[in-house]
Amino acid sequence: MPTIIYVEHNGTEHAVSVAPGQNLMQAAVEHAIPGIEGDCGGLCACGTCHVYLPDDLAALVDAPDELEQGMLEFAFDVNDTSRLSCQLIADDAMDGKRVLMPKRQY
Ligand code: FES
Repeated sequence: MPTIIYVEHNGTEHAVSVAPGQNLMQAAVEHAIPGIEGDCGGLCACGTCHVYLPDDLAALVDAPDELEQGMLEFAFDVNDTSRLSCQLIADDAMDGKRVLMPKRQY
């Protein structure tokens, strides 16, 4: 089971074991990680699971589809590394990778 390191905006790190096949929003919410809300339950309809992906993790996932790109427009403080964590599915290659949270989701 890969361990994902969720990093809050203030630098606080949370290591979470995530089941392969689970999305990174679900795992964060289940472990009460501050900074990821997941208001729509993973339907790509709220933008409150916004994270930033370092290059090493971005290289392991597919590019965002049109729906995700559109929803990201509503997220706070978006940049080129922004993704919606409900659209990122854990697999073993992600073990030890970091995702960074924005200062806030709204
Ligand atoms: S949880 Fe709503 S867009 Fe990801």
